[in-house]
This record gives sequence, structure tokens and C-alpha cells, in this order.
Amino acid sequence: MKNYCILYILLCFLSCSKNEQIEKEVTNKSDEKYEKVINELLSKMTLEDKIGQTNLRGTSSRAKTLSEELKQQVREGKVGALLNVMKTEFVDELQKIAVEESPNKIPLIFARDVIHGFKTMFPIPLGMAASWDEDVARTSSRVAAIESSSVGIRWTFAPMLDIARDSRWGRIAESPGEDPYLASILGKAYVEGFQGDSLNDPTSIAACAKHYIGYGAAIGGRDYNTTIISKPLLHNVYLPPFESALNAKAATVMTAFNEINGIPATGNQYLLKDVLRDKLKFDGFVVSDWESTIEMIAHGYAKDEKHVAELAANAGLDMEMTSKAYENNLKTLIEEGKVSEDQLNEFVKNILRIKLRLGLFETPYRDATNEAKFYEKLHLEKAKEAAIKSTVMLKNKGVLPLAKTSKIALIGPMANAPLDQMGTWTFDGEKEKTITPLDAFKTANINYNYVAGLSHSRDLSKKEFKKSVAMARTSDVIVFVAGEEAILSGEAHSRASIDLPGTQENLIKALAKTGKPIVLVIMAGRPITITNIIDDVDAVLMSWHPGTMGGEALQEILFGLSEPQGRLPISWPKTAGQLPYFYNHKNTGRPANREDYVAMYDIPIGAWQSSLGNDSHYLDVGYTPHFPFGYGLGYTSFKYNKIEVSKDTIRFNEDIIINVTITNTGKRAGKEVVQLYVQDIVGSITRPVRELKGFQHITFEPGETKEVSFILSSNALKFTNHESVKAAEEGHFNVWIGPHSASGLKSTFYLKD
Ligand code: GLC
Repeated sequence: MKNYCILYILLCFLSCSKNEQIEKEVTNKSDEKYEKVINELLSKMTLEDKIGQTNLRGTSSRAKTLSEELKQQVREGKVGALLNVMKTEFVDELQKIAVEESPNKIPLIFARDVIHGFKTMFPIPLGMAASWDEDVARTSSRVAAIESSSVGIRWTFAPMLDIARDSRWGRIAESPGEDPYLASILGKAYVEGFQGDSLNDPTSIAACAKHYIGYGAAIGGRDYNTTIISKPLLHNVYLPPFESALNAKAATVMTAFNEINGIPATGNQYLLKDVLRDKLKFDGFVVSDWESTIEMIAHGYAKDEKHVAELAANAGLDMEMTSKAYENNLKTLIEEGKVSEDQLNEFVKNILRIKLRLGLFETPYRDATNEAKFYEKLHLEKAKEAAIKSTVMLKNKGVLPLAKTSKIALIGPMANAPLDQMGTWTFDGEKEKTITPLDAFKTANINYNYVAGLSHSRDLSKKEFKKSVAMARTSDVIVFVAGEEAILSGEAHSRASIDLPGTQENLIKALAKTGKPIVLVIMAGRPITITNIIDDVDAVLMSWHPGTMGGEALQEILFGLSEPQGRLPISWPKTAGQLPYFYNHKNTGRPANREDYVAMYDIPIGAWQSSLGNDSHYLDVGYTPHFPFGYGLGYTSFKYNKIEVSKDTIRFNEDIIINVTITNTGKRAGKEVVQLYVQDIVGSITRPVRELKGFQHITFEPGETKEVSFILSSNALKFTNHESVKAAEEGHFNVWIGPHSASGLKSTFYLKD
């Protein structure tokens, strides 16, 4: 059985080519069959039965017993899906009641937040975004699906596709970063991994594209807060990852907590009908977020629970998570004619369609022989690989990789933090399985001494400073593992300052006085402002919260067995005061520039008011991030030679080829993430100064030169204007190919109508 499983898993990982035509025919045929089943079922269902399908009931995953009340609700057909039922015997018992005793014998869907792993924890999604590698996304979600489905979970509330431009926002940890192109590639891959080649495979779980939409645009980075998003911004930045996930057949969508331009997402007819159904042709079902329906009262958009149900139903919400506005009011609203039974029928059809596609009618029970495949060797290897590919090296003044013989002082609150290393949304990962940096050093026969220095990331004490400094003095190099506990990012965990918490900076500065080189490793759920200490350290590695295998991944990178391969999926600010900051910003009428900028402490005393360059910058921190989107160092170096475009002018629906030659100028083989950016210089609405339109992972031997080519379609130059018309426009374009968003070789071309 085991070998079969490994073979099966390998097959799932291999990107075996599908025969699109056959797949399409099979899908159409099965959908025709499903629609027939759905209509037959619907014709037998009472109003109460239909309303029952729209109810997602939450239970505490800590529940030791199964309430009789919940069993009775299931028996009466009042529940369509369940969240957080974690005992497999409860899953089996509840499904048996639904399938054998409820009025229409409709199976339940069991849901869980399987966000970046189930038992084997992968890096947090922001970390996996730093890999710029769709295989990392696809593999992590495939492993998560295999592990979670083995205990009866068939629906996950992932991938989270919220574009984030503000690192103060706690949920940036779960996000795919600031760029819609990268997020779209990752979103598709996550859906493919969760849902596998066929949704009715017992190891497939329904994906949920969330949080629809604009959740990451919360004012001030304050979670759940107000968003103001123009239609061009919605269509050009926030929607593309969802479009990509839906094109990959994501089975469900979850509405966001926030309001957009005054209308909460959960009651937003434009978003749920005009965009999601009419424009994107979504045929799965939409679930609210946790009580986001009744929160429309707090928003000041609904008068009471009954009004909530009316607004959500008329907007097109299919299923209500944990609150009971639908259960308590839909029947009355239909009797009063405020909601039609046809609308309710549509909700039920959407829900039944996904249950049918999941194969729950044929196979409602989990495969008890499909024993839990937790922490399989292959899963752990993939988790380590993901952690390596996600690690971003931000600085290296010749100190990395370390010599194996180096005597290391391993210090810091995250050097042995098995729970926090896994990051937010670690519901089922077990800290006992985590390999911390300390664990890895122990087993890798490293010559080291260890002292925590601080007991946790928020530790305000200095009682271990002396001991830490004394130990550092006897070592060749200090590896300081800093960061945030997992609780300091994730839902509802926004921070106004994103410095290292506690007295971590103080300890780093005390250690710097020893004169020993310091390698700063950061484990956190967001970029951390390190402006105050960057000059005190010789190297910086961003590990994010790297998951179960983070310690081994770090050890391999520190000693050069692997190269840090990550590139920033989010601009790294100098200070929180710069936020929100994002690379694909507009030029403004007064773009900041080097010539005009006078740093605050260089301003002459009594300077004339307009003598400082009236441009869009900060006097104190200037106008650039600490590290730009796309940035990351490796263990070798590259030189980008000449850039060439295949044509000076291209017409609509034509492609243009852009070439560069790149040389590995270092002594080690290495991998470069070669990035392609364009700028639409003049548009009917202003356009970003740069937009990512392609990237390639290219490996080079020492001294090797390679030609790297990008084929850019003119379709990639389309954007949506205020009239919601998506089109490319004639005009001049800049194009760059380079190692990140603030550099690269530049050329131009003209797009002619
Ligand atoms: C939470 C989150 C959402 C999650 C849901 C169920 O409030 O916003 O992402 O999937 O509730 O746990």
C-alpha cells in the first residue's frame, strides 16, 4: 500500500499532460448528468430542506463530544456542511446520519482551514510566494489535500488570494504578496494541487478562493477595515488572482469581511452577480466568511438579521458560515416575496453541484483504509524544499555560506520555537514534529553553542544578554534567529510598528559590539523593518515562518548545501510610515527622484520653503523601499548583458520577443529569477510605472552565459478602464528584464492599433 501511495503521490506531482478535449467532453457529460440529478433532488425538497443546505455549521475542533442537538439538526436536514469536525469518528457518524436518516439523504461536506499544510506544515503562503515557483504552491496544496482528505476533510478555505500592499496587515502572512501576475500564477497552482486532476478523487478537496474581494486593501493595514477600490483597481489588481483560480475551476468562493466603497462584500450584488457570475461564469458556490453576513448590521448596511438575509440572498450568497440569518429568515422572506424561491433554488443547485463533483453522493464516507498519510517522507522533503526555495537572502557581506568548521553561536528567540516556526493557520500541525534550527544543528554535527538570549519574540528582559555576549565572544560567527511569534501575524493581528518586537534589536546591537560577524535570520509573518540594525549585521536571511522543516532548510542554506532561492513577493519597507508601498505604483505628476531629494538631516538650516524639490517623497526616509519587490540574493552573481526586442513596433494580437544574455560571474553554480516588466507610458487612465509580465528560473554553471527570451503578447498589455472596458491601447512601452523591480536592462517598443 505504501509504495502505491508514494507512486500515486509522485504521479500527482508530475505535471502529466491532460487531453484537454477528452477532459472537456467528460466534464460536460458529467455536468449534464449532475444537472439532471440536481433537478430531481430539488423537486423533492421542501423549503426547509433547501434552506438546510445553505447552512455551514461550525464546531470547535477541540470538542470532545458530539452534541445531540447538532446530530438532530443533521438528521432533520438543517445542515449542508460542517466546519472543524476533527474526530474522524464524528465525521463518520454525522455523515451516516445525513446519508441514511435526513429527508433527502444529501451528504455533508466537511471543511477545514488547510492553508499551508495540514499536518506537514509548509512555509506560510507569503513565504511560498517568495519562491516564485508554481510547483511549490501546487505541491504544498497536493500534500495538504492528501493528508487532510484522509481524515474526511473534503473542502478547504484556501487559497487566500488577497493582494496585499501593507505589511502592517496581519493577514499579509497568508497572502500571495503585492503583485497580481505572480498571485495569479500561484492561485491557479494552489487550486490544481488541492483539487487534483479530478474533484471526485478521494484525495481531492474543494478549493475556496478567498476573500472575495479587496480584503488586503484595508485602510491602515487594520484587519477587517474599510476598502475604497475603484473599478480599474479592482479589475487590474485585486480580481486577476480570483479569475485565475476560477479558470482553474476553483469549486467555491468566500466573501470577505470588508466593505468595498460602502457595500460589504457579503451583500454586494455587483461583485457576486455582475462580476462573479455574469463576467467570470462561476458555477460553484459562494460561502460567507465567519458571521460576515450578520456583521452587515455592524457595518451599518443591514437593519437586523432579517434584513441581513434579504441583502445577502439578493446579492447571491449561497451558503452562510456559522451564523443563522438564512435559517431564521429565508422562509419568511420568500413568503413575503422579498426573496424568491428561484433564488434559493439557485443556491441549492450550486451547492449540490459541488457535492456531486466531489463524488460525495457515490462515496459519502471517507476511505477508512486510506490511513492517515501524515508526515510521509516525501511530504517532509517537499516541505523542506519549499522552505529553501522561499528563503530570501537580503544581505551578504561575504559571510555566507559558512564554513562547516566554523564555531557558531546560535542565539535568538526563534532558534528553537517549534510552534511559532510553523506560523499562522497551523490548526493541525504538531510542534513536536517541527525541526527547529537548534534541532538541525544538533543532528548535522555542527560545531555550535546555543543560548536563547530571549525566551520569546516579545521578551523585554535583558537577563541573558551577558551570557549571550560571552558565548558569542568564543565563537567565529553569530547566527541570530529573530522574528515574530506566530500570534503576531494572521487574522486580527495587524501591527502599527513592524520592527522586531521586544529587546531583539538591543541584543543584536550588544552582540555586534563583540566584532563577530552576525547572520540575522528572520522568522516572521511579514517583512520586518530592520533599518536600525542592518549595519550591525553582515548577512540577512528571511525565512518567513518556514514550517515543519524550516530548521533543516536553514541549516542547508547557512552551510551552502543549498542556495537561498527566494525573491521578495512584497516590497520591504524602511519603516511602517511608508506603508502602503508597492512597486507597481503610479508615476504621479511629481515623481520622486534622486536629483531633487534632500535627506532631512542634510537640509540647510533656514532652507527656503520650496528649495527641497517638491516631489512625492518623505524628507526622513526618501522614496524607495529598503528592498524592492522581486529582490533576493544567491551565492553567486550575475551580469545582465544587452537587451534586444524582436520588433520596434507590434500590432494588436501580435507578440514581441525580448532577449537578454546573462552571465554567471561567480564561482558557484546558481539560479536566477529573471524578471520581465513593462510600462504603458501613456494611457486613457494612468498606468503603473512597472508591471511584472513574466519571470523565469534559470540555472547557470560558474562563468556560464545564457540567452534568456520572453515572448510578450500584446494581450498582456490590456487593462480595464473606468468604463470596465478591458483593452490594450496604442502607444509607447518601456520594457525591462532584470533581477528585480528596481533594476534591469531597458528597451522600448510601440504598440500600433
Ligand atoms: C476566519 C477567516 C477565514 C476562515 C474562516 C473559517 O474568520 O477570515 O479566512 O477560512 O474564518 O475559519
